[in-house]
Amino acid sequence: MTNKRYLITAGLPYSNGRLHVGHIAGAYLPADTWVRYRRACGDDVRFVCGSDDNGVTALIAARKEGKTPEELTAYYNASQARDFAGLGIEFDVYGGTHQPDFVEQHNRICQEFFLTIHEKGYFTKKTSTQLYDAEANQFLPDRFVKGTCYHKKEDGSVCGYAEAYGDQCEACGNAIDPMELIDPESTITGTKPEPRETTHWHLRLDEFEDRLREWLESKRQASDENPAWREMVLNFSLGQIKSGLPERAMTRDLEWGVPVPLDDPDAKGKALYVWFDAPIGYVSFTANLCARTEGDATNYARWFKDPDCRIVHFVGEDNTIFHTLTWPAMMLAEGSYQLPWQVIVNHFLNIKFPGKDETKVSKSRGTAVWIEDFLQTFDADPLRYYLTAIAPESARTAFDFDDLINRNNSELLAAFGNFVNRTMSQAHRHFEGKVPGVGERGDVDLAQLAEIQAAADRTAAQLEAFHFKAALGEAMGLARSANKYMDDKKPWKTVKNEATRADAATTINVALQTVRGLATLLAPFLPASGAKCAQMLVLEGDLPEALPWSEAAKELPAGTTLGDAVMLIKKLDRDKLFAEEAD
Ligand code: 2FM
Ligand code: ZN
Repeated sequence: MTNKRYLITAGLPYSNGRLHVGHIAGAYLPADTWVRYRRACGDDVRFVCGSDDNGVTALIAARKEGKTPEELTAYYNASQARDFAGLGIEFDVYGGTHQPDFVEQHNRICQEFFLTIHEKGYFTKKTSTQLYDAEANQFLPDRFVKGTCYHKKEDGSVCGYAEAYGDQCEACGNAIDPMELIDPESTITGTKPEPRETTHWHLRLDEFEDRLREWLESKRQASDENPAWREMVLNFSLGQIKSGLPERAMTRDLEWGVPVPLDDPDAKGKALYVWFDAPIGYVSFTANLCARTEGDATNYARWFKDPDCRIVHFVGEDNTIFHTLTWPAMMLAEGSYQLPWQVIVNHFLNIKFPGKDETKVSKSRGTAVWIEDFLQTFDADPLRYYLTAIAPESARTAFDFDDLINRNNSELLAAFGNFVNRTMSQAHRHFEGKVPGVGERGDVDLAQLAEIQAAADRTAAQLEAFHFKAALGEAMGLARSANKYMDDKKPWKTVKNEATRADAATTINVALQTVRGLATLLAPFLPASGAKCAQMLVLEGDLPEALPWSEAAKELPAGTTLGDAVMLIKKLDRDKLFAEEAD
């Protein structure tokens, strides 16, 4: 099979706050896992992300924290980059749409994109009535206004979510026209806004309905070349097309953002809509990466315009329509881009603290688990393990501290950590720290060896289909079969008797081969543990070179000197953890 090229993105987080476990489970962890898997398969991958700095969200947070938007977004851009690094989520470039090293190039690429669409006639310039805050003396786009959602649900009743913002309703996922909000209120002054006229450029989404429908329908059919998209993504997006895609304003009355690049008095004091510029951030950050690593920013086209490359977007559920409809429509309107190959959407995560009821993540109510805090007490791999094991792939799931501790101790440590530990310590204790020579391999040994490749194939099949939870289950299945193998063969007993010592050698040999297999299969999910295993087995290079997928079942030669045994997974003590919490 020839290797492929992939441009993989994770939704740009707003730089208006810290990251919590919901963000990580929704987009960044599955994206990083998939990137690591693709690289282990030898594919050429670029993993691109950065902060979404423009628009109203940054202005609201800056106001609250008494900072300028530049200060605020620089602060959270750095805080988020630290959190990602702490979790082993490694981007090739972590940009920011208003960060000093990126903003100029970002603005230029966005403005060119806008102008091309403008020249092609896909914008309608329209004067309409918008909400205005007379006290703050400004229009109220997007999150500057909130009110009750007016959208109809499938059963005909009104959504009625009372905290819907002027851009999108978080309850039903629909885009909001602020003029239709029931009981609108300014989030700046709390006053009732008044209607005023203003002029904006609207993207004629209706022009692209047929092409978008055809493209989305083509994603229903699974094939090796084209794994089927998640059902809910297709149904939701196609449902939107069925109800008709209205024109959407792509400019705003705002100073903070990418200036509207038109020589037109009506464009004065206006910026591009943040959902116009944010996805172009994927492009401008790639351009920055290409400039840095290849000396030519225009090489971004190799990733975004060359059909030999596959674009994969990972996002949370509230980003669905922007990645399956608006952004693809922008790409079609611009005309030289290729559409995404996959859009992977996850649901939100609820939270369950010990002794409390399950609840939605809410920053204001303090029900978020912040990554920064988590990493002060826990290693990254247990969190990565847990968030994949409970991945909200087809529905909301809950992050539960007790469940995290149980799964760490009874799955990750018991099945994986202990197996590696037992194997390494016996190799050191009884076989001079070397891979022992094999005696005669019996059926049980051969079956265990065969299981390595079989588990690698099953795990790969699930990863190819973006089923992360199932893929982790397959990899952990190898750990469970390995423990059973060890328990059946009891090398700690057979090693003590001259007549059976050769069988102990065979067992530890097979167990070490299994450690390599396990390390390979788990490394995309648990990179720190994968790297430690590679060190113990003295496999050269960093990840992914040390553990290529194709060599999961390749045998370590007898006589290979092993590295020192190092602890992989720590036991978590619930009482101690929560006693510390109470201090
Ligand atoms: O929902 C969010 O956090 C948005 N900032 C995601 C933007 S993704 C994109 F298109 F850049
Ligand atoms: Zn709603």
